[in-house]
Amino acid sequence: MEKATLIFNGKKHEMPMVKGTENETAIDISQLRQETGLITLDVGYQNTGACTSSITFIDGDKGILRYRGIPIEELAEKASFTEVAYLLIYGDLPNKEEQQIFSQRLTQNSMIHEEMLRFFDGFPPTAHPMAILATMVNSMSVYYTDYYTEDFQAETFDLMAASLISRIRTIAAYSYKHSIGHPHVYPKRDLKYASNFLYMMFDSPVNPYVPDPDIERALSILLILHADHEQNCSTSTVRLVGSSMANLYASICAGICALWGPLHGGANQKVIEMLEQIKNDRLTIRQCIESAKDKNSKFRLFGFGHRVYKNYDPRAKVLKEYCEKIFKKCNYQDQLINIAMELEDATLKDPFFIERKLYPNVDFYSGILYRMIGIPTDMFTVMFAIGRLPGMIAQWKEMHDTVPLKIGRPRQIYTGNNLRHYVPMEER
Ligand code: SDX
Repeated sequence: MEKATLIFNGKKHEMPMVKGTENETAIDISQLRQETGLITLDVGYQNTGACTSSITFIDGDKGILRYRGIPIEELAEKASFTEVAYLLIYGDLPNKEEQQIFSQRLTQNSMIHEEMLRFFDGFPPTAHPMAILATMVNSMSVYYTDYYTEDFQAETFDLMAASLISRIRTIAAYSYKHSIGHPHVYPKRDLKYASNFLYMMFDSPVNPYVPDPDIERALSILLILHADHEQNCSTSTVRLVGSSMANLYASICAGICALWGPLHGGANQKVIEMLEQIKNDRLTIRQCIESAKDKNSKFRLFGFGHRVYKNYDPRAKVLKEYCEKIFKKCNYQDQLINIAMELEDATLKDPFFIERKLYPNVDFYSGILYRMIGIPTDMFTVMFAIGRLPGMIAQWKEMHDTVPLKIGRPRQIYTGNNLRHYVPMEER
């Protein structure tokens, strides 16, 4: 491949190029400082690749998203969430035997240690479920000590991965029960992934959970569409924490905390709160659009814009179409979807949004489906975390499979005081 040439201080420096399987091309600057004494500065890593990866491919200009080469549209239509989890972590869709082993491992690891239930007594009912989730996931390294050791062991990893994917559901459902003062419902061994979660969420001694295949499929589709998204903020956090050889539970806990932010995974909760504000305050769509464009206004158009997608987020497209289909089939009404569609229609015609290539992202329609399923708004980001967990685990594993493991340690440009000395209190 041709090289990149940097001319600095009259001297030429050549740097190798890297081209991916979808022809994305990068300058490899790993020797830059050694050769030139220079570093690069790229606030927010908008132009910086942290790694090579074979897990997820995004073409932000064309609105393409594939997991291990398979378009998410096909997976959302045909796959189960556990198949997608296996695909992301192990590289291919599981055959029948692999699926059975994986499902059995998830079933065997669906209950949480009874002593972990005592943590819930310490949380007030109003505790945000993301705070509970992060705490409980990190505590898993205390109760499930088959966690990462100095030498990466495949069979230990398989157990940790299944333990996390299965138990995150149980923790999430228990946090909901705790918030409404209901008894926890133990997982069942004969229910599939999404059904078991909904059973633990909505079954109670007085109101049995009534399975609805459409609702269970809607949840699986939501989980599949959230399963991975290459080097986003929270997954990059998982990689960075994992690069210090922290165990998988601690790394995932850090990723859950990063996901909580309203600019990231917390946006789905913010979208519904925004739509409800529009409805309750009787705001016009035009008022919303103008406020969203006004830098001084506190109003933010959550669910719009994306660092990578400069086209319609393909996940939002699938979710919007599925909302329309399932609402019609279940004869379900939600005024918020009408507001969402009007808002989308108006922004896509507004020069401010067109110039900035701001389109609906995954969070714009996901909350409307979670509402239909009956998930409380403050649990929407927890649902994002449940879906994203296989991707975080897959990225953590890929980093550990890449030898040598390099600890992540970005540089900086110092802009503080030059050398100065201590001044005694009486002279300040
Ligand atoms: C997720 O990275 C991932 O892959 C994330 C994710 C995943 O699957 O992991 O896809 C999940 O996090 C989706 C994004 C959810 N967040 C939101 O919906 C919050 C609202 N969106 C924005 O805050 C913003 O668009 C971000 C954070 C998503 C992206 O921010 P960037 O890339 O740093 O872009 P920016 O803030 O610099 O915006 C560029 C311009 C600015 O205007 P100007 O300064 O050029 O005049 O676009 C404007 C921004 O003011 N802008 C918006 C806007 N988003 C960007 N204006 C109004 N409303 C918005 N939502």
